[in-house]
Amino acid sequence: MKVTVVGAGAVGASCAEYIAMKDFASEVVILDIKEGFAEGKAMDLMQTASLNGFDTNIVGTTGDYSKTAGSDVAVITSGIPRKPGMTREELIGINAGIVKMVSESLIAQSPEIIIIVVSNPMDTMTYLTHKATGLPKNRIIGMGGALDSARFKYRLAEALGAPISDVDGMVIGGHSDKGMVPLTRMATRNSVRVSEFLSEERLEQVAADTKVGGATLTGLLGTSAWYAPGAAVSELVKAIALDSKKIFPCSALLEGEYGLNDLCIGVPVVLGKNGIEKIVEIELDAAEKAKLTESAEGVKKTNGLLN
Ligand code: 2OP
Repeated sequence: MKVTVVGAGAVGASCAEYIAMKDFASEVVILDIKEGFAEGKAMDLMQTASLNGFDTNIVGTTGDYSKTAGSDVAVITSGIPRKPGMTREELIGINAGIVKMVSESLIAQSPEIIIIVVSNPMDTMTYLTHKATGLPKNRIIGMGGALDSARFKYRLAEALGAPISDVDGMVIGGHSDKGMVPLTRMATRNSVRVSEFLSEERLEQVAADTKVGGATLTGLLGTSAWYAPGAAVSELVKAIALDSKKIFPCSALLEGEYGLNDLCIGVPVVLGKNGIEKIVEIELDAAEKAKLTESAEGVKKTNGLLN
């Protein structure tokens, strides 16, 4: 499998690093517009190969899309990250133009490519990629829910005093501070609902901490996070590479599922060699449905800023 990562910033470099470390891809191309930057990141990463035990070949390029030709999957991380106090939505003006240009350039080199969008505001950038490219809906995936769910599991484990491997849980909805819908009712500790261990108030706190997961890190780091976003992307790419049919919440184009239409928003999907192989419609209770509907209204409002 050949993977292209567009953007050699912290998120893009982490994506490339985790993909290489998992050793399922033959080649990772990192592309950036800053002269020499992607080449430098690629060389530095390649010098970890003998230490970390991977055979993935990593190459960097300054803006030469011909190097990406024949990619199976591309990850778009380009654009500006948010600064403390900024919402993901505030990035739309600059990032929309970049994501459109990048996705068109990728498809020109690799017509069969599957695109994973990471740039923010992610749900709107995923929707824009659909509109700009017309690719079939299974081949455009927004990365948000896998990251938000990892943050949810971290907060659940913290509240439970349990190892993270004992915890399962999922976040659906928009990838925004207000729009995330952590499904606390369905979260489990080794098959037991977490509500058996945690009070309603504590669970509400877990949900609230999850929703501001990215903003909390932006406050601490002065820019947006990279390790968990990179790790989440690498798991999505791996599921496609291995045709694993694993379920992840991802931003997908909805056409009636969950009663929603004409937007991309986080819902559980099955990932395999064709990208999104199925949108899974789970039974939500009235409160969860209301939260998802409200989240969808927020995403649509941001989509409206594209026009
Ligand atoms: C985050 O939540 C980058 O949006 C990403 O950290």
